[in-house]
Amino acid sequence: MQARYLRSAAERVREQPTEESLWQVGSGGWPPDKQQPRDVQHLHKKGGTAGTDVSRPFDWQPHCVATSRRQHDHKGRLPMEQTAKTDFAPSTPQLQPLPSVTQNSSGPATDRTSLLGGPTMPALPTFSVSTRMRGRHLLTDTDLTPEEVAEVIDTASRLKRLHKNGQPHHYLTGKSIGMIFQMPSTRTRVSLEAGMAQLGGQAIFLGVNDLQTSRGETIADTAQILSRYVDGVVARVYDHNTLVEMGENASIPVMNGLSNLCHPLQAWADLLTLTERFGDLKGLKIAYLGDGNNMVSSLMLSGAAMGVSVTAATPAEYAPSEQVMQYAQWIGNSTGAHIGATTDAHAAVKDADVVYTDVHVSMGQENAAHRAVSLAPYKVTPEIMESAGKQALFMHCLPMHRDEEVASEVVDSPASIIYDQAENRLHMHKALLVHTLC
Ligand code: CP
Ligand code: NVA
Repeated sequence: MQARYLRSAAERVREQPTEESLWQVGSGGWPPDKQQPRDVQHLHKKGGTAGTDVSRPFDWQPHCVATSRRQHDHKGRLPMEQTAKTDFAPSTPQLQPLPSVTQNSSGPATDRTSLLGGPTMPALPTFSVSTRMRGRHLLTDTDLTPEEVAEVIDTASRLKRLHKNGQPHHYLTGKSIGMIFQMPSTRTRVSLEAGMAQLGGQAIFLGVNDLQTSRGETIADTAQILSRYVDGVVARVYDHNTLVEMGENASIPVMNGLSNLCHPLQAWADLLTLTERFGDLKGLKIAYLGDGNNMVSSLMLSGAAMGVSVTAATPAEYAPSEQVMQYAQWIGNSTGAHIGATTDAHAAVKDADVVYTDVHVSMGQENAAHRAVSLAPYKVTPEIMESAGKQALFMHCLPMHRDEEVASEVVDSPASIIYDQAENRLHMHKALLVHTLC
């Protein structure tokens, strides 16, 4: 991974093949077929883990609850070679210098003034990305092809490096996003808000009581209205159908900030963390212990796409979604990833590169007392980490409940990379924003 950080100052997009990879399988639509913004789907490649030709065997997502606004039949997508790479911030800065706020713009800053703009505004580094994800909804893990996941990981690494070097990268000046959160959030919300600010744009937080949806305005109308004001929407919702409905009615990209179905932004950020740690994703093994929830669904789908094997150890009653597993296995058949489930925690962690867990009671779930008893044997303990082996790292999407799903000794051990993992939400979100909004 060191090599990744030794790249030259001019940030360049990674090379893209002109044809879709052969190992992308399935019909040319899967979830994105129903979900791309009304005004862009005829302009851009739909994307998704699915490719062309082969019928998709399963339909694991909730069905759309609103279809009347769809205007395109999705048949007119452009070939890959037309999704051109562009430099959106050439080395000659395109931004006009900010007006100075000092009394005397040519004078030095004083105790009472900050000299902004003018000659102190450094040029933005050259940074190029492909336009293939522009305007696309990101509602599930399969809305990005494996090739696109690799590309956003690369972009996130480059943006991270610029950020760490203190280099300006406000490539989204003038852009804004709405952030609809039906549930609390620390990482997703704060990293998106900070990320938009670092990119020169603005994020508008919209909590449950902030929107007129609390007084009966429909999701469809809300999506259409927001499309007139902002450039993208991130939504954290209890019911994934809400996201689907937003997607069908918005003409701007909608991103899933977590739903009952999946948590793709977390999984993609985790793949960035794994890339940093291991260099190559293909062949890695994740053992997930605990509840078969939205998080393990995303790990299975995103992991399978990138050749990462995922084995979940859960009680039978809290096993991962069978449909998600079948879909992930189907993807994994093409990438070499093994996707499986067991009730044996020690068997699952054997030879794992990563032991991963999540809370035993997710937001919106009930039966907390019963879950506590049923899931207790799947706690990540020092013994579990020993079964995994010395090489194993510990990950958790957070927030965690110390000594419930994971022992504090594990959290605080050298094997734990949870804070790096949390930090990478910021860099991955910035990459996704750049790719979809630029
Ligand atoms: N992992 C995650 O999504 O954290 P938040 O709930 O704090 O956003
Ligand atoms: N499974 C957890 C993830 C939190 C980031 C939940 O849905 O609450």
